[in-house]
Amino acid sequence: MINLEEVTKSYHDNIYALREVSLSIGRGECCFVLGPPGAGKTTLLKLLYGIEPPTGGKVTLLGRDVSRLKPSNIQALRRHMGFVFQDYRLIDSWTVYDNAAVILEILGKSPGYIRGRVWQMLKWVGLQHRIYERAGDLSGGEKQLLAVIRATIHDPDILLADEPVGSLDETTAMHVMNMFYKLHKKGVTMLIASHREDPLIDFTRVITLDKGMVLSR
Ligand SMILES: Nc1ncnc2c1ncn2[C@@H]1O[C@H](COP(=O)(O)OP(=O)(O)OP(=O)(O)O)[C@@H](O)[C@H]1O
Ligand SMILES: [Mg+2]
Repeated sequence: MINLEEVTKSYHDNIYALREVSLSIGRGECCFVLGPPGAGKTTLLKLLYGIEPPTGGKVTLLGRDVSRLKPSNIQALRRHMGFVFQDYRLIDSWTVYDNAAVILEILGKSPGYIRGRVWQMLKWVGLQHRIYERAGDLSGGEKQLLAVIRATIHDPDILLADEPVGSLDETTAMHVMNMFYKLHKKGVTMLIASHREDPLIDFTRVITLDKGMVLSR
């Protein structure tokens, strides 16, 4: 489902964010990507989402060579994916509702379905009372919850989550991890980046990165 062949990413000469990474991740696998700051976790997820092109090697996702896709084809591929950004990347001037609903609108879901689904998801994380407020007015933890909702509301086949509980308290973090666990049970393929191994979930696989290299897979 996800394949990397000797993938290298360098932003500057001789500084490598990823170095000849080869990995194969099957459908329904749930992977925890562990590594210290600067290990290359975010870079790995960005390459998979087609945000950054690799400097060398090949990234294949759902049978498509990501670096050879036209922007319109990358957009099409992303309809099957969700991405929780480490820095949230919400549209601050939009309401909470609009941030959550955007992917469902792109997918052409009916207004009635969208309203019901957004309400259900916001209620689930306790954000329903802020539904018509600007996303920019939320606290850091609330923004993170909204970012998780935006990435999962359309039941993606692949979920890429970059430190998705880093700003949350223990109880809320457990809530989100339980949600990921349910998605895993539904067969969603997941890569979750983190500084530390979360004891809450028995993940199927741990991929350890350090200085851009895979130490264990
Ligand atoms: N846009 C960029 N320009 C230059 N260097 C970059 C860029 N993005 C990442 N890097 C470098 O690539 C390396 C890996 O960064 P990356 O963000 O992937 O690490 P990370 O494992 O996600 O770290 P953290 O745990 O702090 O989020 C770092 O040395 C970083 O400085
Ligand atoms: Mg990162």
